[in-house]
Amino acid sequence: SKAEIGLIGLGVMGSNLALNIAEKGYPIAVYNRTSSRTGAFFENAGDLRENIVPCATLEELVAQIKPPRPIILMVQAGKAVDEQIEVLRDLLQKDDIIIDAGNANFRDTIRRFEELEGSGLTFIGMGVSGGEEGARHGPSIMVGGKEDAYKRVEKVLTAIAARFEDEPCCAWLGEGGAGHFVKTIHNGIEYADMQMIAEIYGILRDGFGMKAGEIGAIFKRWNEGRLNSYLVEITAAVLEANDPQTGKAMVDMILDRAGQKGTGRWSAIEAQMMGVPATAIEAAVAARSLSAEKSLREAASEAYGEPAPAGGTPDAAFIDDLELALFAGKIAAYAQGFAVMAEASSEFKWNLPMPTIARIWRAGCIIRSQFLGTLAQSFEADAGAENLLLIGDFVAMMKEANPSLRRIVSHAALAGLPVPALSAALGYFDAFRQARGTANLIQAQRDFFGAHGFERIDAEGEHHGPWGGKAG
Ligand code: 6PG
Repeated sequence: SKAEIGLIGLGVMGSNLALNIAEKGYPIAVYNRTSSRTGAFFENAGDLRENIVPCATLEELVAQIKPPRPIILMVQAGKAVDEQIEVLRDLLQKDDIIIDAGNANFRDTIRRFEELEGSGLTFIGMGVSGGEEGARHGPSIMVGGKEDAYKRVEKVLTAIAARFEDEPCCAWLGEGGAGHFVKTIHNGIEYADMQMIAEIYGILRDGFGMKAGEIGAIFKRWNEGRLNSYLVEITAAVLEANDPQTGKAMVDMILDRAGQKGTGRWSAIEAQMMGVPATAIEAAVAARSLSAEKSLREAASEAYGEPAPAGGTPDAAFIDDLELALFAGKIAAYAQGFAVMAEASSEFKWNLPMPTIARIWRAGCIIRSQFLGTLAQSFEADAGAENLLLIGDFVAMMKEANPSLRRIVSHAALAGLPVPALSAALGYFDAFRQARGTANLIQAQRDFFGAHGFERIDAEGEHHGPWGGKAG
């Protein structure tokens, strides 16, 4: 046997990951259920073929890898992973390592760890971000499992990971489902980033009737500043692209109905389960769901009409406000995402290293940005901070940016333009920095109708109100 590692599942992500591994000098054995795909993959691998061993059966795959064998699964998340593990259990030997690199639900990952306990096999649940390009040339890799298991595959994983300056964007984040959980929250944040960008685009398109290319030029400029990020960069490129078939802006020819495969939704679900507010992420998930209801939206547009664009051109101050509003929304969304991770970290006893998470997201992954560099530094300086909005640098940044978010959300509300994620971010911020909120009234209501009791501001213990004998 000549291979040092194996990979099962030669879809887009699997193929690219396999080429990446081969290119870094690690001989890899590959297998795909439909073996014609394995053949085609090998044929197209060019010079990298010398490091690739195509296998027609799983038995062959196992025989081709030097024990103890690390095998990466890149099959569709869900049932396919369980089926694959079931088959491998009988073929593998003690100390072999199964690495699930798909977008698994971390609860499934935890279950798989339990199911494999005592089998002698080692399991790793690994989040991989960066899409096709990332998988091929350097993804961000979030590893969960036993730390010593990670140590055994650290060399190859860090070799294929993206680099930020010289640091590989790959780290062991904790036991069990930690890696897949962090990947899920990465995607929740990805949804929020994308949605808030789309809302800003909507204000310019529908509020001012601006053309896609003109809006693209604005994003392009923003990408040179504080919003510098992969998603803003590709937004500019997307908005400036023309449809080869019609010559029109490509984005204008695309149906306004977005798909979702689950990870964004899981982060909202988990946030709710833990009681951590993640409203900007939730709003982004909900916006995708509403986008899918195309015919209902058409009916509602018919029933209610839609505001006409105010027209004119936005002045420079307004464009600056949009930039800062997007930045403020981003801060709030990341504060929420990291708060969800902090809660999960204590609930699942993962001890998630927040500065490391921020660091391995600086390159390779979809949400990579200059912002994450600032975030990593700030987290390092203020390790005990409970919420991003309370970390020194972020306090200053949010102080500067929140008035713009406020003006833009007001503008959009008055113009009848939907900004659900930006307004959720603003609502979160305003409620978060309110020392005395309005839940005193909620408590009174609860006590009134259900005798739930409340705490007083001037005395210990549980109390009831004078609700005319209805409570207490
Ligand atoms: C990444 C992406 C990647 C993928 C997700 C998002 O980090 O590389 O998040 O994992 O694009 O599947 O998917 P949906 O938008 O389809 O939910």
